[in-house]
Amino acid sequence: MTMKKVSDIVRLGPVIPVLAFESVEQGENVSRALHAGGVKVLEITLRTEAGLKSIERASQLAEDIVVGVGTLTKPEHCAQAKKAGAQFGVSPGLTKELHQAALDCGLPLLPGVMTPSDILVAMDLGYEIVKLFPAQQAGGVSMLQALNGPFPTLKFCPTGGISAETAPTFLALPNVVCVGGSWLTPKAALAAQNWDEVTRLARAATELAPPAH
Ligand code: 3PG
Repeated sequence: MTMKKVSDIVRLGPVIPVLAFESVEQGENVSRALHAGGVKVLEITLRTEAGLKSIERASQLAEDIVVGVGTLTKPEHCAQAKKAGAQFGVSPGLTKELHQAALDCGLPLLPGVMTPSDILVAMDLGYEIVKLFPAQQAGGVSMLQALNGPFPTLKFCPTGGISAETAPTFLALPNVVCVGGSWLTPKAALAAQNWDEVTRLARAATELAPPAH
């Protein structure tokens, strides 16, 4: 399989669902429901035991599904996730060790940043697209507008505290390429195994106006 670049992956849809599964079975059902709603890119986190196996199953669901590993915090996670089928990685922050591990195993990385100093480190390592995390808590839309001054070429995938209601305002910013969030998989819907509701939320998310840039 040809390695995809983060710059291509983030443009496959306006919203990347951030997922934490309680079981592999739940992971498979939710991934299928999201894909049925038009979502092509999933971020399956390593926050639960089911993470790696869910990445493996989701990767095999369809030709056009791109599964990433989320909550990458340890260098050794990179190779494990890549082996399971992850095509990209997302981390809440960035260390040189994580950067190197992702590079070594050929896992394109979308690293988390929250401050201008974080951004300088990420840019120094060659990143042109980063995740602002936690986006809303860090200042949300006005934070992204302020960062566009000193960093006019840098693009963001803000994640954290974003909802169906606030996503369009983020997506309208010139430095936002997509947003991440967990609102496509409400706890109640998952507990009730209401996969149709997941598909409905996914469909609404994929129909949001994409960034114009
Ligand atoms: C997370 O940390 O779970 C992700 O960034 C998603 O955040 P959210 O649940 O606020 O959308």
